[in-house]
Amino acid sequence: MSPETQGTMMFKLVLIGDGAVGKTSVRRKYLGKGFISSHIATIGVDFAQKYVQVNGTTCRLVIWDLAGQTGFERVRKHYYQGCSALVLVYDITSRETFDNATRWLAEAYTYAGEIPPTAILGNKVDLRTSNDRSEFVQPEEGQAFMELFTKKLGIPSIFYETSAKNGENIEETFSSLTRLMINQEAKRKGKKK
Ligand code: GTP
Repeated sequence: MSPETQGTMMFKLVLIGDGAVGKTSVRRKYLGKGFISSHIATIGVDFAQKYVQVNGTTCRLVIWDLAGQTGFERVRKHYYQGCSALVLVYDITSRETFDNATRWLAEAYTYAGEIPPTAILGNKVDLRTSNDRSEFVQPEEGQAFMELFTKKLGIPSIFYETSAKNGENIEETFSSLTRLMINQEAKRKGKKK
């Protein structure tokens, strides 16, 4: 989804990742809504939008938040279609959620037909400082995963460790990702000509 209406570019972003990694919290933080410390599982799908200015371009970001729990696959698959970017979230305190990252990408590829620009987020980084443990996923691992993605598969991607609790790198994630989407759209148009 990227038609331009009166100079505004519209992008569909899809948040993916295991249950309880913080997808809803990342979105809420970005939209300026308060952090909720209890976990209310997203049922099916939820979405919200925000207008941003990046490099002088007005962009309408429509951010879809898909349920992480298994059992929602049938609902989820429709929402990958036409997405301009993926925001793949794992929880740095849960290695399993990092190990599952490739499964999420495989699902996105299956339903979207291609992988769009992607932000890989190691969320809950605030817990590293307060309670560091060796089994936590290290930033180098997230970075290596992103580099593999970019270099081997040629997919524009970024990596950040984020905190939906204190806001660390949340703005940066969406502004960098928006730049990638704008570039991708320009490339796509160039190819069409
Ligand atoms: P599903 O809807 O089940 O897929 O979950 P989700 O990935 O949307 O996770 P959600 O945002 O509901 O967050 C799950 C739990 O993690 C909640 O208790 C949040 O308060 C907590 N949480 C989310 N992000 C952070 C973070 O950056 N730091 C800390 N400390 N807790 C977080």
